[in-house]
Amino acid sequence: MSMIPFDDRDGFIWYDGRLVAWRDANLHVLSHGLHYASCVFEGERVYNGTVFCLDEHNERLRNSARILGFEVPASMDDLARATEEVIRANNIVEGYVRPIAWRGSEQMGVSAQATKIHLALAWWGDWTSYFSPEARAKGIRMRQSRWSRPAPNTAPVHAKATGLYMICTMAKHEAEAQGFDDALMLDWRGQLAEGTGANLFLVINGELHTPTPDCFLNGITRQTVIGLAKRRGIKVDERAIMPEELAKADEVFLTGSAAEVTPVGEIVGDIGNYRFTPGTMCRLMQEDFDRAVGKKVAATAA
Ligand SMILES: Cc1ncc(COP(=O)(O)O)c(C=O)c1O
Repeated sequence: MSMIPFDDRDGFIWYDGRLVAWRDANLHVLSHGLHYASCVFEGERVYNGTVFCLDEHNERLRNSARILGFEVPASMDDLARATEEVIRANNIVEGYVRPIAWRGSEQMGVSAQATKIHLALAWWGDWTSYFSPEARAKGIRMRQSRWSRPAPNTAPVHAKATGLYMICTMAKHEAEAQGFDDALMLDWRGQLAEGTGANLFLVINGELHTPTPDCFLNGITRQTVIGLAKRRGIKVDERAIMPEELAKADEVFLTGSAAEVTPVGEIVGDIGNYRFTPGTMCRLMQEDFDRAVGKKVAATAA
């Protein structure tokens, strides 16, 4: 499939306070964010012209920046207005909005106190970089990564910071090179952590079990799904989960703004080989989530 490069498209990007023509949304090569990863971002889904959980995403963006030691140069209201402008200018009905904030060019070097903070909101509507519909239907195939989620005292693990995605890309590329859809990452203690862009849930005896997010993002989709499950009276246990417990799981799924609720069909690695068939719980959580974001859902749910 041929893809139009992301820097060569029609449309508008919100950049430092105003909409600019897509191809003019550039930055200089000497930008601190590019060299030293002083950069935070969000990934938001637009459903029927509206971002799902916009405030939660904007709060996380502002908090991610604070963790890295800078302020996003926009209030919650400013961010909401900018998002609205991007959606309207581009006529987005379904898509993915990408806010990003980074340190600029006033200072190059590890110290960056004098840099100006930039903010942009871009978007895209194609999902070619994510899981295929076929993989999602059968359950995706995951390969255990040799990269671990870092300990909280070695990286800003609660920030959605670009630097943390370096290991995600390496992990994902390795998995893809071996024919898998995604990598499963353990944490530095050897406990189950997450995928390269989505949180992990196990279904054990009709209950949901999910790793405590103490060294990776407590995803907004994860929190939404936990709320939806609890509303159905399904018990949710957030705890440390060792990989061997995958043997007890009847179903496994991932959650994320891009991944939504994606069933996992297989996990392979030194931790063992496990197969899962997407069943009732995956379907229920997919349907509840789809309803929550405003999709039309066939009335098949229990
Ligand atoms: C590494 C990682 N974990 C988890 C998530 C899920 O977070 P959310 O549901 O807020 O999109 C994401 C996506 O943002 C991610 O990139």
